[in-house]
Amino acid sequence: MKKANKRRIKITGTGFYVPDNVLTNADLEKIVDTSDEWITTRTGIKERRFVSEEQATSDLAVEACRIALKNAGLKIKDIDLIIVATSTPDTIFPSTACWVQQGLGAGYIPAFDISAGCTGWLYGMILAESLILNGAHKRILLVGGEVLTKITNMKDRNTCVLFGDAAATTVLEESDDESGMLSSYWRADGNLGELLYQPAGGTRIPATAESVAQDLHYLHMKGNDVFKHAVKRMGEAALEVLKSAGLEKEDIDYLIPHQANIRIIDATGRRLKVPPEKVYSNIHKYGNVSVASIPLSVHELWEAGKLKKGDIVIMVAFGAGFTWSAVAYRW
Ligand code: ACO
Repeated sequence: MKKANKRRIKITGTGFYVPDNVLTNADLEKIVDTSDEWITTRTGIKERRFVSEEQATSDLAVEACRIALKNAGLKIKDIDLIIVATSTPDTIFPSTACWVQQGLGAGYIPAFDISAGCTGWLYGMILAESLILNGAHKRILLVGGEVLTKITNMKDRNTCVLFGDAAATTVLEESDDESGMLSSYWRADGNLGELLYQPAGGTRIPATAESVAQDLHYLHMKGNDVFKHAVKRMGEAALEVLKSAGLEKEDIDYLIPHQANIRIIDATGRRLKVPPEKVYSNIHKYGNVSVASIPLSVHELWEAGKLKKGDIVIMVAFGAGFTWSAVAYRW
């Protein structure tokens, strides 16, 4: 648990990018045995975006970075580190961050990936805070980018209706006022790894014709178990950051939960006693875009002029690992 401190980092620019291709629930009805009614009531999702065959995670990330830089009024030469949080890298190595660095023409600045499932962007915030406040870096591009549709089995109705592709980027710098990150909390439980994972393609089960034939390169998920842990852990993480920031539930102006399922989002809001209008959700438009979902939500809220100076924002996520994390932030 991290105590609220005086020096803090803040978000000085945001950007996001989603591919043009839209897949609606009606489209999915033609692919698997499902219905718009089932998907809407069980998940809140109406449509999601998916990449074209030639697009990879770094392509989305580069676009999101360009927009974030523009919104921050910066050029790529002003950035001294790129971190990409992703579970769907372009390649196992080099890192997606290195492909992004190349795509942006970012010279020789360091670049690396974080693998923490959907929690990766919050893990990145916590890491970036240390790197900036200890003086190692001045301006960081933190990306959450995911192309889950390329590892989703389109014959499996339990998973294929849930996911979409997106990237969202934040520019992070030291704050020069009272705004910024107030407190944070991060945890992991490797015992729950097999609740949500991609079994093959790593060194445990390397890629072979057999592993492909057995569908082991797709995302595998025990949805019910993930659901239960998600609700419990997101509530716990949010309460921890409120406490360490010296805040009460009533102080929350916006709750931004990871957008995995509208029922998980609503349950987290209820647990924190945050009225529905203060719980942000865009899952109906994008589906679960994993690690991109929180920075994308921040971008939308900011761009819509809904975030006012001094607003208290709680961001909270869970994901593969299992990992879970929260950040309390003063806008
Ligand atoms: N269409 C129609 N029926 C379906 C579909 C579908 N797409 N998918 C499952 N069903 C059926 C099941 O087969 C089951 O039928 P049965 O009773 O005849 O066996 C029935 O619906 C109920 O299935 P459940 O799995 O119990 O449905 P549930 O209400 O739990 O909803 C869901 C499933 C949406 C996956 C839910 O468990 C969930 O959202 N879990 C969390 C998933 C999640 O958050 N994953 C990502 C976490 S990390 C990250 O973001 C990468």
